[in-house]
Amino acid sequence: MNRKDCKCFREHVHPYQYIRGIPPGPSSLQLLYGDVLSISMKTTIVLLGPPGAGKGTQGEKLTDEFGYVRLSTGDMLREAVRNGTELGKKAKEYMDAGALVPNDLIIGLMKEKIKEVNGGVLLDGFPRTVEQADALGEVMKVDLALNFDVPDEELISRLTQRRSCPDCNAVYHLVTKKPKQDGICDKCGGKLYQRDDDKESTVKNRLEVYHKNTQPLIDYYEKKGVLVTIPSTGSIDEIFEKVKKAIQ
Ligand code: AP5
Repeated sequence: MNRKDCKCFREHVHPYQYIRGIPPGPSSLQLLYGDVLSISMKTTIVLLGPPGAGKGTQGEKLTDEFGYVRLSTGDMLREAVRNGTELGKKAKEYMDAGALVPNDLIIGLMKEKIKEVNGGVLLDGFPRTVEQADALGEVMKVDLALNFDVPDEELISRLTQRRSCPDCNAVYHLVTKKPKQDGICDKCGGKLYQRDDDKESTVKNRLEVYHKNTQPLIDYYEKKGVLVTIPSTGSIDEIFEKVKKAIQ
């Protein structure tokens, strides 16, 4: 079954809540993990790191294995652009240039989405500025900020060889994570494409924007005592092992 067909996925409710018949509520995930898995896991996790660091890749694995809901601002914005919504029209020129979409558009969007979530949530690509982080802090306590640390040279090669699925947002790589069938998504059969902002010149600009605007969030979350930095140049599975330790 495609994840999008799953009721819990559509309604942003943790799958175990359905299985156990536990009603949605702010503390139900913690109760549930204590009850079913006998471990306590971090509930609200910010995925930090430069473009191509593996936020989406590791986020997808956390969602598949533990049922976290992943809210990716990049995925939401690309969908808005594809659907030609007002948000999409306003965001497109910034995204094409590798620049940040203005804070007011992003903060409004994320506050709405966060309200809909019950249980464990991964924030992928948000916050990206100190202003966004302050706005998030007003509505939600962050339990863990996972900082994926990768040198710029490797990021350029990862991004220029990335292929993405427009239908389920799965990500692949021409060398390190090939789909079983060339050009076709393993998960949903969608036709893979190269993102416009994954061309080399735009990637370089995205990295500059990251260092200037988003890197300060590493200090921001370190001061709050919730930062864990994961050196992220090994294989996807090796990195996932470190991620699993950090969330427990
Ligand atoms: P967004 O979509 O969030 O892009 P990003 O942050 O630049 O992150 P990416 O999706 O490029 O990388 P990733 O870290 O998820 O890496 P992935 O797992 O895919 O944002 C796009 C745009 O939207 C922004 O530029 C901006 O305009 C706008 N925007 C979004 N959020 C915003 C916000 N909050 N405020 C303002 N504007 C916002 O991996 C990359 C590749 O590497 C893949 O091919 C993968 O298979 C491969 N890979 C992953 N791990 C490994 C590994 N360990 N070894 C080898 N290859 C690997």
